[in-house]
Amino acid sequence: MLKSICALAVGSLLLASTSLHAASDSGPIVIKFSHVVADNTPKGQGALLFKTLAEERLGDKVKVEIYPNSTLYGDANELDALSKNEVQLLAPSLAKFEQYTKQLQVFDLPFLFDDLEAVNRFQKRSKGRQLLRSMESQNIVGLAYWHNGMKQLSATKPLLVPTDAAGLTFRIQPSSVLQAQFSQLGATPLVLPFAEVFEALKSGKVQGAENPWSNIYSKQLHTVQPYITETNHGVLDYMLVSNPRFWYAIPHQIRTQLEGIIDEVTYEVNRQAEAANQADRNRIAATSGTQIISLTDEQRDAWRQAMRPVWQQFEGVIGADIIKAAQTVNRNKR
Ligand code: LMR
Repeated sequence: MLKSICALAVGSLLLASTSLHAASDSGPIVIKFSHVVADNTPKGQGALLFKTLAEERLGDKVKVEIYPNSTLYGDANELDALSKNEVQLLAPSLAKFEQYTKQLQVFDLPFLFDDLEAVNRFQKRSKGRQLLRSMESQNIVGLAYWHNGMKQLSATKPLLVPTDAAGLTFRIQPSSVLQAQFSQLGATPLVLPFAEVFEALKSGKVQGAENPWSNIYSKQLHTVQPYITETNHGVLDYMLVSNPRFWYAIPHQIRTQLEGIIDEVTYEVNRQAEAANQADRNRIAATSGTQIISLTDEQRDAWRQAMRPVWQQFEGVIGADIIKAAQTVNRNKR
């Protein structure tokens, strides 16, 4: 009871807030959507489709501005900008929410999900749905999960067995799980914003990275990484987020339409992400200068074993129940 009274009070306070007003009599609601990747990626395409459908269906009521490639905000400041309502939609990788919730780190655990379909099943089940709301007390509302793809390891030398990674520096997203994953291999993890990855690889500041094919191809990372090992060792997915003070202040009818559009866009992004990644893999395979290394089952298992201690390390902070729920979504139970 007390909870719901508090929720009501907080709700009306938020709605009364004038600094974050969404609707305006004088013009359309402007939704700035900032992201760090290229247009020709699953997230980039999703953002553009959202703009098209929202402006088609909501006419002069809504204007969507898309800022790709960290042109408005980058990894370092986009969530802060969201909290100040300077931007209204973001879709950061799930690895980038650590300071708001530890629970989403489940998605970074190496070799937890066999493939994107397993990730999809987890996101649709109750634990996955709950995680969309795990940051509401921090003024972040999760509207949807969008897929990118499974990550591959790339480096300046061939990575066949886990010890091959020892001594190399790998660029990582800001996630303690990913940090532990590379430390486990005897490698040095270095957190860098996505916008700096190409230059860091090119200059030799880092010698390796982990990315889905679409991010490798769209940023031409393969041109500075002669070896890519097809490890599929983890997932890079996104949460489409907004500031609840902005989102819930949008007039109900318009918000409902926007949420319907988000459902449609989510369906499209997630339906096409795997194929888009495979197409980019094939484009990279067709270029000279980069060797794609396929692992045998035994080799892949050695990587799994080498990274596996990370699960135990983070079980306490993520929650054993969440990890367990995630484990049930693989078809080949281990
Ligand atoms: C990364 O930093 O590697 C990714 O999160 C970039 C992205 O948004 O796909």
